[in-house]
Amino acid sequence: MRVLELDHPLVAHKLTALRKAETRSSMFRLLADELVTLLAYEATRNVAVAPVEIQTPVTTMTGTRLTDPKPMVVPILRAGLGMLDGMTRLLPTAEVGFLGMVRNDETLEVTTYANRLPDDLTDRQCFVLDPMLATGHTLIASVNYLHERGAKDITCVTLLCAPEGLKTLEEQIDPAIDLTVVTAAIDEKLNEKGYIVPGLGDAGDRLFGVV
Ligand code: URA
Repeated sequence: MRVLELDHPLVAHKLTALRKAETRSSMFRLLADELVTLLAYEATRNVAVAPVEIQTPVTTMTGTRLTDPKPMVVPILRAGLGMLDGMTRLLPTAEVGFLGMVRNDETLEVTTYANRLPDDLTDRQCFVLDPMLATGHTLIASVNYLHERGAKDITCVTLLCAPEGLKTLEEQIDPAIDLTVVTAAIDEKLNEKGYIVPGLGDAGDRLFGVV
């Protein structure tokens, strides 16, 4: 598993604004969208491409195009939906599939309540969108789900990670799975309620106007 924590002043600036308790939902959505676009640039560094012959106004040349099968972008409902536009802005030809995962706050067990994905993901590059890698249980379930259906490689795009969640991912994901985590920051810890500290609170609630 590779973990890529973006070190960029724009990412740090936007993330700081996102973290502030006084940032309202409309601004939170906008900042999250911009941050995801910056993360998407790094997350797609190994997206599959092939040479293509083109004609410019001046001459012919060999350019580059994304190959088939198209990448699959998988937002985890609900909070991952707030990352979809930022990701597809850079990958407009990607296919989008949805996974609904819910965590039982007492047992921390994750179950799938919605699935809109092709059964066969053979050779697909998958980009999982989930803003908060907290305990890691949701991402473990999602990554295993995609891998079982044949995904070639899986990149998880997150806004924040807890070190505990990354450790659990490292311990519980089969090392044979080609997995990359791209994040704006690795925070200090998880608190007793499962929130990332210092974090940004409940990403779903802040994205969708509950707070
Ligand atoms: N999910 C969130 O939305 N926030 C956290 O801090 C942890 C999990």
